[in-house]
Amino acid sequence: MSTSQPDDHEPDNHPIVLLTGASGYVGGRLLSLLEQQPIQLRCLARTPDKLRPQVKESTQIVQGDVLDTASLDNALKGVHTAYYLVHLMSDSSDFEEQDRQAAKNFADAASKAGVQRIIYLGGLGDDNDPKLSPHLRSRHEVGQILNSSGIDTVEFRAGMVIGAGSLSYKLLKSLTDRLPVMICPRWLTTATQPIAVDDVLAYLLAARQLPPGRDRIFEIGGTEIVTYADLIREYAHQKGLRRLLIFVPVLTPYLSGLWLAVVTPATYAIGRHLIEGLKNPTVVQDKRAGKVFAIHPMGVKEALQRAIATATE
Ligand SMILES: NC(=O)c1ccc[n+]([C@@H]2O[C@H](COP(=O)([O-])OP(=O)(O)OC[C@H]3O[C@@H](n4cnc5c(N)ncnc54)[C@H](OP(=O)(O)O)[C@@H]3O)[C@@H](O)[C@H]2O)c1
Repeated sequence: MSTSQPDDHEPDNHPIVLLTGASGYVGGRLLSLLEQQPIQLRCLARTPDKLRPQVKESTQIVQGDVLDTASLDNALKGVHTAYYLVHLMSDSSDFEEQDRQAAKNFADAASKAGVQRIIYLGGLGDDNDPKLSPHLRSRHEVGQILNSSGIDTVEFRAGMVIGAGSLSYKLLKSLTDRLPVMICPRWLTTATQPIAVDDVLAYLLAARQLPPGRDRIFEIGGTEIVTYADLIREYAHQKGLRRLLIFVPVLTPYLSGLWLAVVTPATYAIGRHLIEGLKNPTVVQDKRAGKVFAIHPMGVKEALQRAIATATE
């Protein structure tokens, strides 16, 4: 396993695939699947030592940060396909500007390095909705910036990803496990089309095999349109919990964020950004993914069964 100087030519002639976000939830799950492919996998990591125990000996880890252009030049050298699974929103108050800068840096460096394809996972949400949350707007803008590099960019847009370890699933789990009676804000009735993490991973893997193309955005979701309250009820049902949901008309995003910060492991900042996005419907409008990919996503029940069955903290 090399840690800093990637080679231009891999001895076995396998294409070099760069994975960013490998220490994150989706990237971490994709990592082990990519390691089974006939590729030379390279991961970009801000803290390589943290990632090293998770990767195979043959996987390269390159120290880098999407806000540091020099590190991207190094990481993208010789790369054929790059996965962009970076998420900067965590605790930053100006996450939109940071996300924008990071995407620009990545697009420029990828273009300079001659990368053939970028695969990006962003968020669902209607571009024409004037009330689209800053979080979802920023996810879409990142896709536009990557695409504007001129590189064949495949963007997936997903709503909540159901899988043990996903932040949104952890919020759902924490709230439902801890609160027998929930005072619920209205956004719990927003329509959403969650997707199981296994299905997201199937799309991300399949995107590598697509024929060349341009300007491709695929909206992806599970088989059902539900509300967040439905998800709480289904999760509670599967765990054998009796839960009472009481809806109140006024619970501002600010108060909802504080509410989450008190009862869930997520920080207040992450909770608030996510909550702002939960007001927006996240439903698949464009069904092209169903025609292009031979993937048949599962429904909420099975997705939750799988997440619950996966042991976590
Ligand atoms: N999880 C979901 O429910 C969900 C739903 C829909 C869409 N998505 C999309 O899927 C993508 C991945 O989400 P996720 O949930 O897997 O995110 P995550 O668990 O929060 O992981 C984020 C990753 O980004 C990396 N990162 C952050 N700042 C960085 C920087 N400056 N330079 C390089 N790497 C940096 C983190 O690395 P460090 O370890 O260095 O912090 C981490 O590996 C995002 O685009 C998100 O919008 C996720």
